[in-house]
Amino acid sequence: MSVKRFPLLLMSFVLVLGSRLLFAGAGDGVWVTRVPDKQRTRENPFAGQPEAVAAGAKLFRQNCSTCHGSEALGTKKYPNLHTEQVRAATDGELEWLLKNGSMKNGMPSWSRLPEQQRWQIVAFLRSLQ
Ligand code: HEC
Repeated sequence: MSVKRFPLLLMSFVLVLGSRLLFAGAGDGVWVTRVPDKQRTRENPFAGQPEAVAAGAKLFRQNCSTCHGSEALGTKKYPNLHTEQVRAATDGELEWLLKNGSMKNGMPSWSRLPEQQRWQIVAFLRSLQ
């Protein structure tokens, strides 16, 4: 490699690394690694119930659409919820995320909602997939 090109290479390396560090965080799916094992296997008491999906859709419009978009397709800063990453998460993991949030990355906690409502929202999220 020519000596002349070396600074250019170094600069692109720094740029790539820098943007990785900057954009790691929101939407990277790391939250799932923080879920305690016992929570992962919890079952949604409303799984597959159309009334729960409808109630969850309403709760989503009220609480979540400002960030994730009315169709849950995400916005510039906030993740799409129709992705493989969300599909791969268990109901228990999703309910855990809603309860605890991922505050550092900007996802609020929904512990103020009754647990039943969080499960209804999870039923709605499943219906998207
Ligand atoms: C203030 C903006 C904001 C609101 C309101 C919000 N979220 Fe989020 N949400 C985020 C951010 C930021 C992340 C990324 C968190 C992370 O990766 O650690 C996220 C992540 C998620 C994820 C995981 C996505 C993935 O790919 O891993 C789900 C599921 C989710 N939110 C559902 C909801 C639901 C349901 C609501 C309403 C009860 C809601 N969010 C309200 C900002 C928000």
